[in-house]
Amino acid sequence: MNPKMNNLQLEINQLLSESIPNSALNTNLEESMLYSLNAGGKRIRPVVLLLTLEMLSGDYEKGISSAIGLEMIHTYSLIHDDLPPMDNDDYRRGKPTNHKVYGEWKAILSGDALLTKAFELISNDQALTDLTKIKLIQRLSNASGHLGMVGGQTLDMQSEGTPVDLETLEQIHNAKTGALLKFAVMAAVDIANPSSDVANNLELYSEHLGLMFQIKDDLLDIYGDETKLGKKVGSDLANDKSTYVSLLGKEGAEEKLAYHTQAAYDCLANLPDNYDTTQLDAIIKLFNDRES
Ligand code: IPE
Ligand code: IPE
Ligand code: MG
Ligand code: MG
Ligand code: MG
Repeated sequence: MNPKMNNLQLEINQLLSESIPNSALNTNLEESMLYSLNAGGKRIRPVVLLLTLEMLSGDYEKGISSAIGLEMIHTYSLIHDDLPPMDNDDYRRGKPTNHKVYGEWKAILSGDALLTKAFELISNDQALTDLTKIKLIQRLSNASGHLGMVGGQTLDMQSEGTPVDLETLEQIHNAKTGALLKFAVMAAVDIANPSSDVANNLELYSEHLGLMFQIKDDLLDIYGDETKLGKKVGSDLANDKSTYVSLLGKEGAEEKLAYHTQAAYDCLANLPDNYDTTQLDAIIKLFNDRES
């Protein structure tokens, strides 16, 4: 991450740590929600959202509630993804997984509460018009739900133990991972309202980013370094998942990654000259080079 991204990451960390007020009920659910929110994490999705908005409008303030909400939904997806009936993983973001610390039922409920909190945050944002809030809430619910992340996670689980073809795998990756990354870019579009040509190029850019991100995740699950990743490698093999590596081998997966990397750069090159794409170009490089 470059210094600009690092500063955003710090701001996001601060906002997340203040995002869950203490309970009026006598539970420690909030402690469990904050445990996973504050455990670390790259904050890639909110960073992408804020950088896209800054490129489009010169200012990212109006994107903050969507960025924080998006990271909450992503964090909930990881808490549930790690549960024993799903990927059954014990480490996440360098710490024991939520269910290892708080137990399975509380991990489920913490995820539920993080999901709903995201919509509460956006709906309460005084800086946005009602129309923009409705657009963002529609887009985020679509990206998160049965046609988006949850649908992709369902296909992923359903496909365990049965090798799927590349087309199906791409569908899984687009939904389980791509949908939330697409939201990151397109929420900025909803807020800034650029021309449809710009919106279309950014949408394509986000689709290539989504595939890049999960192809790299598949590679790192085999070839990554656990201490850098903060999660155990070998989870996909243990769960008999189809991945880009299991289907195409290391080199085939790397070729696909290179293809989507170039295609993402091309989308940005198509934007009008008045947009400074430096930071969104840097996001592509980060997605390509990342080791965590
Ligand atoms: C992991 O996401 C899950 C995938 C969608 C591949 P990240 O790699 O962004 O995880 P954190 O947020 O940095 O922990
Ligand atoms: C999960 O994909 C994507 C989500 C929607 C959470 P993975 O199962 O590959 O993510 P990791 O490798 O556990 O982070
Ligand atoms: Mg999974
Ligand atoms: Mg997993
Ligand atoms: Mg993975």
